[in-house]
Amino acid sequence: MPEPQKIKIFDTTLRDGEQSPGASMNLTEKLEVAQALIDLGVDVIEAGFPIASPGDFDAVREIATTMKGATICGLARCNDKDIDRAWEALKHSEDPRIHVFLATSAIHREFKLQMTPEQIIHKAVEGVQRAVQYCDDVEFSPEDAARTEIDFLCEVVEKTIAAGATTVNIPDTVGYATPSHMASHIKALVDRVPNIDKAVISIHCHNDLGLAVANSLAAVQEGAGQIECTINGIGERAGNTALEEVVMAMKTRSDFFNYQTGIHTNRLVPTSRLVSTVTGIQVQRNKAIVGRNAFAHEAGIHQDGMLKEPSTYEIMRPEDVGFAKTDLVLGKHSGRAALADRAKQLGYRLTGEQLQDVFTAFKELADRKKEVYDGDISALIENKVYGEIEDVWSLVNFELLTQSGSMATIKLTLGKKGEEVSCELTDGDGPIDAAFLATEKLTGLSLVCKDFQVRSATIGRDAQGEVIVRVEHDGEEFKGRGVSTNTVEATITAVLNSVNRIEITKKLRSESRLQRKEFS
Ligand code: KIV
Ligand code: ZN
Repeated sequence: MPEPQKIKIFDTTLRDGEQSPGASMNLTEKLEVAQALIDLGVDVIEAGFPIASPGDFDAVREIATTMKGATICGLARCNDKDIDRAWEALKHSEDPRIHVFLATSAIHREFKLQMTPEQIIHKAVEGVQRAVQYCDDVEFSPEDAARTEIDFLCEVVEKTIAAGATTVNIPDTVGYATPSHMASHIKALVDRVPNIDKAVISIHCHNDLGLAVANSLAAVQEGAGQIECTINGIGERAGNTALEEVVMAMKTRSDFFNYQTGIHTNRLVPTSRLVSTVTGIQVQRNKAIVGRNAFAHEAGIHQDGMLKEPSTYEIMRPEDVGFAKTDLVLGKHSGRAALADRAKQLGYRLTGEQLQDVFTAFKELADRKKEVYDGDISALIENKVYGEIEDVWSLVNFELLTQSGSMATIKLTLGKKGEEVSCELTDGDGPIDAAFLATEKLTGLSLVCKDFQVRSATIGRDAQGEVIVRVEHDGEEFKGRGVSTNTVEATITAVLNSVNRIEITKKLRSESRLQRKEFS
């Protein structure tokens, strides 16, 4: 077999991924994810859309200024203001890329842009030329390329490469393509665009028909040299190509796909966990590669085969994608070193201070619970390290009474700046409603519950319950997380965590340090 061809992995978790409903991340979370992407070995990080909001701008600038080891990219529409703003955010990067896009399909030309094909070409070329003045590395995307007439797409691609684009990205913006459709589009570009050898062809697929990974692989087989993807496949609507799936497909079927990537695949599960934690978007159990059940064998026949020879029912080794080999149990006699070692194996990078916090919480948990599993430790770390924000309100005490056939009664005491406030309510429509009502009453904030998820962090009746809530306040959504062996306490903690995020956002806004997104 000839030497495998290198395929670049362009990660857009922080841009397209962050655009998915409810996935917004704050600056600290974005920096954390960017560092994890570098550790994972991605080639390009699309860090955001700098013109979209001051928050996006700050994140791109901070990532561009501080992160090394990957190309840092910022998105811009084809206009001077967007491109100038993108460059302003990127200019301190060692390895910057400006990504400009303009829609090219007949539907977008007619209904969205009201522009003729000639006007589109003119604007696309102008945009690329402006970006090239700032930066050698310029990517151009004809948005909705998969639904663009192939003759016109070839013309746009040729002219933008001539204007200086070094990567031409072919987006299937609405997830409409099929593998053979995508393959024929890429083949046409390779065969018909005379200067195609001057640029890397990239592929960017959405997953509306569940075909994003298959379409990306089909594009690579016809000559695409870059795949755009996101961790856990998050992104607009049904999401984008899942990085972990497309990478593991190429690796596992290297007999068929003679390609290689720079991804350290044993970092896939920890990175997936991190993204799930900071976005609050849980990974479905049966998700390929990183789902909790991806390597679980339930049927007796399968278990028997696995014990005799794992390759009977496993095409990848769990440790190759970052699942820890053993679910080693820790207990109340385990020390800080054992916890630190376990946290490291699970893929978490903790500072000394964070380790101390997690260790204290671990000891408290180990007192209540005989066996502390990996899932418990992950839940504690995620709650302590990523869930914790400056507390305005804290839980002091609660008493809850629920009975079948009657309303829930709650007595709640919260703390704020050393003061305690309490209330008692008797009209909760169940414990969750009671927790929300009492929190609203004490904090004076109105909260609309948009999502409520509870899951067990591990197995057994004494497992910790992990609650994630998403609340709407004043037209904006905030997430909250709580973990406890008592699910009511986890619920109240999660609601309070979202309240604290609201309070902090208000505070930063009043200091003009944070603004709402202006662009959507
Ligand atoms: O889906 C899409 O078309 C995009 C472009 C901006 C590349 O995300
Ligand atoms: Zn997209």
